[in-house]
Amino acid sequence: MQLTAAQLEAFDRDGFLFFPGLFSPQEVKTLNSAVPELYSRREAYNVREKGSDAVRTNFAAHMYSAPFARLARHPRMIKPVEQLFNEKLYMHQFKINGKMAFEGDVWQWHQDYGTWLNDDLMPEPRAMNVAIFLDEVNEFNGPLMFIPASHKKGVLEAGHDLTTTSYPLWTIDHALISQLVERAGGRNGGIVSPQGPAGSMILFHSCLVHASTSNLSPWNRVSVYLSLCAVSNHIQRHKRPEYIAHRDFTPIDCLPDDCLTKDYPVDLPWGKGMPGSALQTSLDRIAA
Ligand code: SIN
Ligand code: MN
Repeated sequence: MQLTAAQLEAFDRDGFLFFPGLFSPQEVKTLNSAVPELYSRREAYNVREKGSDAVRTNFAAHMYSAPFARLARHPRMIKPVEQLFNEKLYMHQFKINGKMAFEGDVWQWHQDYGTWLNDDLMPEPRAMNVAIFLDEVNEFNGPLMFIPASHKKGVLEAGHDLTTTSYPLWTIDHALISQLVERAGGRNGGIVSPQGPAGSMILFHSCLVHASTSNLSPWNRVSVYLSLCAVSNHIQRHKRPEYIAHRDFTPIDCLPDDCLTKDYPVDLPWGKGMPGSALQTSLDRIAA
C-alpha cells in the first residue's frame, strides 16, 4: 500500500492518517481471538490496570504469538511507513492495549517521542505509531484523541507521571494542552478522535499529542499499537526492559498481503518464554 500525494500532504499538516476498515472482519478475528489467552498469562509483559486484574497493556506479542508476529510484518502497515521515512524499519515497541469494558483507565496527554527520547535515547522522531482497532472504537469506549498539527511543535516539556495509572508516562501539563487545543481550532477541530469499525488503522506522528479517557462503556476497546522506527534511528540506551523497548534493529521484511488469513511460517523468538536478558536494564549508552 502506497500513500497518495494528498495523503502525504494531510499527514504533514495534521500529523495523522486514518484508514477505516483497512483490515477485514476475518483478519481481525484471527488477531482478536488470540488476545484472551495472551492476557491470561501471569508475565511481566502483561501490565494490569491500577487496582484491577484487567490488562492495560500486553507488550511484545509479536515475539511469542504467531498471529501478531504476522501482523508485525504486514505490508498494509509497513509499506506506507517505509515510504514516509524512505528507509527500512525495525519494531521499537509492540502493544495490545486492552481498555477493557468498565475497567480501562485513562492515558494522559503525551507525545510518545518524549518517552523514547527521555528513556531510550532515540536520536530523532523518525518512528511512527500505528494503531489497529481490534474492536469497534466509538465515542463511549475511550477513543484516542489527537490535537491536530501538534507534532509541528517538536518535543514539548513533559513531567514523568508515575502515579496516575499503572504505567509510567511523560505527560504534558494542562496549561500547555489548553494552548495547543486553542491553536488547533479550539472547539472547532482542536481535538479530534478517529472512530470506526474493528480493522481500522491510524498512522500518527511520534510527536503528535494524544490521550484517551477511561472506558465506562460495556464494550472493550482492544487496539494494537506498533511503533516502527527507521533502522538508522535506533535507540541508544536500554534503560527499559526489552519487552517494552526492543533491542533487535534488524530491518522488517514484509510477508504477503494475505498473511493474516494464511499460515505463513514466522519466527517466535520468545515462543518458549522470555529470556532473563529481556528484563536487564542499563543507564549506559550502547556501544556504537
Ligand atoms: C498510547 O498512547 O500509547 C495508548 C493510548 C490508548 O491506548 O488510548
Ligand atoms: Mn502514546
